Amino acid sequence: MSGRFSGSVVLVAGGTGGLGRAVTSAFLEESATVVVTYRNQPEWEKFKTAASAHAARLEGHEVDVTDEAAVRQLVEKILSKHSRLDALVNTVGGYAGGLKLWEMETKVFEQMLNLNLRSGYALSRAAVPAMLKQGRGAIVNVAAKAALDHAAGASAYAASKAAAVAMLDSLAADVKGTGVRVNTILPSIIDTEANRNAMPKADFAKWPKPRDIARVILFLCSDDAKVIQGAAIPVYGDS
Ligand SMILES: NC(=O)c1ccc[n+]([C@@H]2O[C@H](COP(=O)([O-])OP(=O)(O)OC[C@H]3O[C@@H](n4cnc5c(N)ncnc54)[C@H](OP(=O)(O)O)[C@@H]3O)[C@@H](O)[C@H]2O)c1
Repeated sequence: MSGRFSGSVVLVAGGTGGLGRAVTSAFLEESATVVVTYRNQPEWEKFKTAASAHAARLEGHEVDVTDEAAVRQLVEKILSKHSRLDALVNTVGGYAGGLKLWEMETKVFEQMLNLNLRSGYALSRAAVPAMLKQGRGAIVNVAAKAALDHAAGASAYAASKAAAVAMLDSLAADVKGTGVRVNTILPSIIDTEANRNAMPKADFAKWPKPRDIARVILFLCSDDAKVIQGAAIPVYGDS
């Protein structure tokens, strides 16, 4: 087992999701202590059982990461238990599409902003002060190719992901020179079980795999990426 993150404490928001599971597993394999947020208890139980070899370094908290007060409490809990927070990876997000802007219900627009923008806002607001105190830390937010490539029928999704890229880019400028680094990754369609079920006729081989995206995220959180600040990195595979 590689110990690149030995002694590090990492918060993976949405750590039981299609990408989040792969990110959490990769950090566990590289000796980090990983704190995961989840909402769906059975998914968390399933994941915890699958990762039982690392049980001592894995903990889960049921938290709505769009709720600023709840996220702040979670970060306080992490700091009081572990006295540090080395990295934050936000894999929380959601997709809604297929309708033109004027056909979509406004509640869908708000849902996209909450899941794809407010999540990163609440998590960053809670984590950055602790990282500034430490003089080190890494944040990686998961946006999407759609932040740059604005297809029809995805106005709310594209807008929310584009806004998240802008927010993290500005945050990266805010923390320049402090030892805290902030970056974004931009996946295209990921090869998850949910996507395979939703698009059974697609060529899955072209889709980036969660474990390969996780490797990019771990790189961004590692000291090897210490010169990378405010990047938005495409992870498109062959799609
Ligand atoms: N999948 C793709 O093809 C694709 C493409 C481009 C970008 N992305 C982005 O990549 C990220 C990961 O995607 P994914 O496919 O892994 O998504 P996913 O499987 O739906 O996982 C998202 C995770 O976020 C959690 N979550 C949702 N709302 C939450 C909330 N309010 N508070 C706390 N947790 C919440 C979900 O928990 P519950 O299941 O318990 O609700 C789930 O664990 C997202 O930002 C997504 O937009 C995905």
